[in-house]
Amino acid sequence: MESIYKANEDRYNGMMYRRCGRSGILLPAVSLGLWHNFGSVDLFSNFIRIAHTAFDNGITHFDLANNYGPVYGSAEENFGRILKKGLGAYRDELLISTKAGYDMWPGPYGNWGSRKYLMASLDQSLKRMGLDYVDIFYSHRPDPETPLEETMGALADIVRQGKALYVGISNYNAEQTAKALAILKEHRVPCLIHQARYSLFDRWTEPDLLPLLKEEGVGMIAFSPLAQGLLTNKYLHGIPENSRAAKSTGHLQREQVTEEKINKIRRLNELAMERGQTLAEMALAWLLKDDRVTSVLVGASSVDQLLDNLKALENISFTAKEQERIERI
Ligand SMILES: NC(=O)c1ccc[n+]([C@@H]2O[C@H](COP(=O)([O-])OP(=O)(O)OC[C@H]3O[C@@H](n4cnc5c(N)ncnc54)[C@H](OP(=O)(O)O)[C@@H]3O)[C@@H](O)[C@H]2O)c1
Repeated sequence: MESIYKANEDRYNGMMYRRCGRSGILLPAVSLGLWHNFGSVDLFSNFIRIAHTAFDNGITHFDLANNYGPVYGSAEENFGRILKKGLGAYRDELLISTKAGYDMWPGPYGNWGSRKYLMASLDQSLKRMGLDYVDIFYSHRPDPETPLEETMGALADIVRQGKALYVGISNYNAEQTAKALAILKEHRVPCLIHQARYSLFDRWTEPDLLPLLKEEGVGMIAFSPLAQGLLTNKYLHGIPENSRAAKSTGHLQREQVTEEKINKIRRLNELAMERGQTLAEMALAWLLKDDRVTSVLVGASSVDQLLDNLKALENISFTAKEQERIERI
């Protein structure tokens, strides 16, 4: 008979928690994203272990979106199954987020940023996960055709309806972010968090967005902090079969694993080894050295990867020399 999940009693001993902007919320320095590895194409016995290992190690934050899978919706359905099988007993210790903004269902109301789409999508997400509310609901991307007032108004109303406790935005540039924050303030529903791509390989947030978020007291969670696995020891010798770049369902394309990237990865890997870290640990530590980054949102296809990523917390400081070397690479 299957045993019911019981969480590790020491789960809060090793994790670092960081305040999300000027809010009441603390996020674990490492959060778990369910974009890949939790879909209907993946193995339930593997990803339920990843989810349990996460919570057992103090990862309280699980990030989803309506269309994570594949197939669309299946990551939420599977997360609902994980909750039902025991993790849900800890609902008040969990911070669960979902999003809408990308393609989800056919026709004019299943994509982008209309009130019609966001409201309907969140209702569907709640059903799939078997939840009464999510902790954070995001507008997944800005919609150039829909007035920002409509998208932000829908977020504010979702909070008033009690279907989300907080709201966030994702993939908004600094200018769009400033406008969105101002509208949310008018609604008296402050933006809790911005979810943006940020890694050693992708630093678009540095010039404008990060300073703005700091100034406005909004948290920042960095997605794809390992550049989808590039910033690990996985691709040092080419593309292995069991990797995201090799799988037809993965969002990392073979063409993105270029010789130039591999060369940089090797040089970064050397530095990581000198620091006594794996490249994944160093890449995450490098983000967390900046206190404007509330949390790094990792993906993992195995328990071992997740445990490796958690070890990043053992050393998140860098000497000036190490930082210079990274900048040169
Ligand atoms: N808001 C948005 O638009 C948006 C976009 C993308 C992602 N996200 C969020 O961010 C989360 C993370 O994104 P991501 O999955 O791209 O993050 P990532 O952490 O950059 O990449 C995760 C992948 O890297 C590999 N990996 C992870 N740890 C490893 C380790 N220690 N050693 C070797 N390989 C390792 C695994 O790939 P293999 O499968 O190859 O083993 C894993 O699936 C998503 O789940 C989602 O919640 C949000």
